[in-house]
Amino acid sequence: MQIDTKGVVPEALDELLSTWDTKLKGKKPHVMYTVPTGQNPSSASMTLERAKAVYAVARKHDLIIVEDDPYYTLCMDPYVGPASDGVPSTPTEPGRVALKDVHDLESFAKSLPRTYLSIDVDARVLRLDSFSKCFAPGMRLGWLTGSPAFIERIQRIAETDSQEVNGVTQAFFAQLLSEPHLNDTNESWGMEGFARWICDIRRQYQSKRDCLVNGIAASCSKDFIRCKPVAASGMFLWLDVNLEKHPEYRTDVRETSGNPTGPRTNTNELMQRLFELAIEENVLVLQSSIFASAPSFSSVFAKTAEPKALSRTTSHKSWLERDS
Ligand SMILES: Cc1ncc(COP(=O)(O)O)c(C=O)c1O
Repeated sequence: MQIDTKGVVPEALDELLSTWDTKLKGKKPHVMYTVPTGQNPSSASMTLERAKAVYAVARKHDLIIVEDDPYYTLCMDPYVGPASDGVPSTPTEPGRVALKDVHDLESFAKSLPRTYLSIDVDARVLRLDSFSKCFAPGMRLGWLTGSPAFIERIQRIAETDSQEVNGVTQAFFAQLLSEPHLNDTNESWGMEGFARWICDIRRQYQSKRDCLVNGIAASCSKDFIRCKPVAASGMFLWLDVNLEKHPEYRTDVRETSGNPTGPRTNTNELMQRLFELAIEENVLVLQSSIFASAPSFSSVFAKTAEPKALSRTTSHKSWLERDS
């Protein structure tokens, strides 16, 4: 399925399904799985306009949309640093409140990204949310939203397969998210506390993103590494690396993998070197070819540790900013 910086390309999806050859490819698909926000690894994030266009294609071909959205709450404000050439990399959509302007639950809700579920009129969307990315890894607790027809089937499968989510984790979240005034101990977060937590995580990701992108802009030529558009959601940053500009780039390497038509460049060796150098600085860089079905990428995928040297990106203390 073709995607761009806004996710699934509707025209390409329509073309794919309209020209589907059942003799060659088997049964025409009836389910589309997609990660709409901060997609792993491309960092693509869907706009409302894009969601509507893809939804129209889904209606035309009677597709069920499974939107797996664990990075939904990790949305940030657009990047406006040196790598953006003065133009915000991914402008905030009209009607969406910027993170720096969040001051209550209402503005918090308006700051979150668009979803397929919000425009679903046929009950063809099954939405998957998770606490893993917005609370802590390894919680293994999420929730489904969709038509009772889907939920009932999934429930039956879970009963005979994975069974219930760990009871301690469920009890923990039930207690944590209950409203403080309804709680015996008065120590729970409620929705407001959870929103504060999420905003703090969002600020941290934004600060890490800015640190990483500014660092690349300061130390690498744009002809060598490009990071455009800079992600405005999620945990991933997509970089285009022009290895042909590397002084040690070679095109006369003997193929060693046994594939005579395979690449004759030292791309893999240079990428491995980049991986090793970056890891020494607590930055994880992965070659995107490990995610691809076609082995023709030269992009990487990066992750940073705490940007300790960087001050917080928000200068004023907002309602959702924690005191500690
Ligand atoms: C797209 C996507 N969906 C789901 C998950 C897993 O979420 P959970 O820990 O809730 O199973 C991940 C985690 O890496 C992910 O990248």
